[in-house]
Amino acid sequence: MQLDDYSLARQKALAGEYPHQPLKGQIALVTGANSGIGEACARHAAAAGATVAINYVTMPEKADAIVSDIAGAGGLAASFRADVSDEMQVLSMYDEIRARFDTVDILVANAGLQRDAPLEAMTVMQWDTVMNVNLRGQFLCAREAAKEFQRRGPRTVSRALGKIICMSSVHQLIPWSGHVNYAASKGGVMLLMQSLAQELAGRTIRVNGIAPGAIATPINRPAWDTPAAEAKLLDLIPYNRVGVPDDIGRAAVWLSSDASDYVVGTTLFIDGGMTTFESFSTGG
Ligand code: BGC
Repeated sequence: MQLDDYSLARQKALAGEYPHQPLKGQIALVTGANSGIGEACARHAAAAGATVAINYVTMPEKADAIVSDIAGAGGLAASFRADVSDEMQVLSMYDEIRARFDTVDILVANAGLQRDAPLEAMTVMQWDTVMNVNLRGQFLCAREAAKEFQRRGPRTVSRALGKIICMSSVHQLIPWSGHVNYAASKGGVMLLMQSLAQELAGRTIRVNGIAPGAIATPINRPAWDTPAAEAKLLDLIPYNRVGVPDDIGRAAVWLSSDASDYVVGTTLFIDGGMTTFESFSTGG
């Protein structure tokens, strides 16, 4: 299969999915928004009426292309460079977003990466890079979002004071040999999300997670980009198709809209049934 690439034409067409503009008037920050799942979340949020802050750390041209597609489709977005694992950069990014868009209503804490290695070969650098981006990055961005929601106070655009979506993975549940840093980071994201939800719900801040399964993006290209690899991957997916970024973008819109106003502290698994552990259907 191929990477599902977006274009201006598709950005315009996406608006058709959201005739009621559920995020109208809201500002959404999506981290790691210039590729893969983050890009889908940003494009869907814009199509649903949000103004979107596109965070990126490398490939500024990809962030700019998304901003220009959103503008071309009649929306509003801007790109903000920051390494989410760096506290000063995160603080500056929030300052820049406030200067540009006044506030933030929705955080999609999506930025994440893999640095895979068998245990014996895994370096401290590989461990730290994954933990710092995937876990510390979500903590820093969520902390600043919660502060911003409370600083600015209630708005009429949503019943909640703010919404935070933590991008997790099926590997918050499924152990993953050869990827212990990644699985540990996503296990951490699960309890980060649940604890944040508990701490912030009384202030009408909703925190939830999304746990994608195998979604075809650059992060897992070797797992789907040849017919043999795709066939092997499909053995793990009862629904028998590899996911696409749109599958997650749609869910992120719902989870950040008032349609999910009573949803707090939960993880939405979007995995084609991967977490039904299909291999047990004939064994165990
Ligand atoms: C990982 C992918 C993997 C998928 C299913 C994701 O969280 O980033 O590389 O294909 O989980 O195993």
